[in-house]
Amino acid sequence: MKYYEREHVDAYARIRAEGLDQWNDLHDEDSARGYDRFAARHALERELPGQGAGRTVFEYGCGTGGAACFMASRGYSVHAMDLVPDAIHIARERAASRGLEVEFEVGDICRGAGPRHPVDYVVDCFCLQSIVADEDRAAVLNGVHRSLKPDGIFVLTTAMFEPARDYGADWYDPDTGIVWTHSSRGTGGARLLGGTWFAPIRRHLRPADLRRELEMHGLAVIAQSGEFGGEVVCTRLG
Ligand SMILES: C[S@@+](CC[C@H](N)C(=O)[O-])C[C@H]1O[C@@H](n2cnc3c(N)ncnc32)[C@H](O)[C@@H]1O
Repeated sequence: MKYYEREHVDAYARIRAEGLDQWNDLHDEDSARGYDRFAARHALERELPGQGAGRTVFEYGCGTGGAACFMASRGYSVHAMDLVPDAIHIARERAASRGLEVEFEVGDICRGAGPRHPVDYVVDCFCLQSIVADEDRAAVLNGVHRSLKPDGIFVLTTAMFEPARDYGADWYDPDTGIVWTHSSRGTGGARLLGGTWFAPIRRHLRPADLRRELEMHGLAVIAQSGEFGGEVVCTRLG
């Protein structure tokens, strides 16, 4: 199992068993958000035209589909994908109960999953920070470039390095931005450090490093905002 799989599979099993709405209900003290108040809503309201009719979107890491349903409700034609079958199960139920048509799919964005045809928008709502390894991030960002029409837009919301964040028992490597967590088994990219296994769990970059990485993969940053620089809008460089 790759390093990004176990945590997400376990999380959605819990979300499904407990009847929760979405990922943040497990992690956020403000658990009364509700399905329609997903974490990236503000950024999507700002960056996407209000009327989406005739426009296509591919969202990866869609979780239980809050953003996908929001975009579909605005008329966008949405293809949304997540690694975890439990997440997609909930997403399909929620879309159906709202009378929304969204093409939901189970797939791994690091293994080349993507839309069949280039789209107007690729959207990432807090998925990229879980993709840690350089080669996996390269697969994702090259895929974003490939998935966009020549004038397409990539809207990325992602967790970033925050100076005051407390990593607790985890270990933040300031050189790479990788967050390592204790791992009981030596699997999924884990390393033995000082007699303890650590597995990579997050990539929290600084704004300039994220920008460089995006540009390295053919994505020109046209706006970068948010308190720590994690709300980013890109076009294709070529
Ligand atoms: C922090 S959660 C955010 C979920 C959702 N976008 C939201 O805002 O509630 C990250 C999501 O990325 C998904 N994910 C992680 N790695 C993935 C991969 N390689 N391919 C597709 N989805 C992935 C996880 O299953 C999870 O749903």
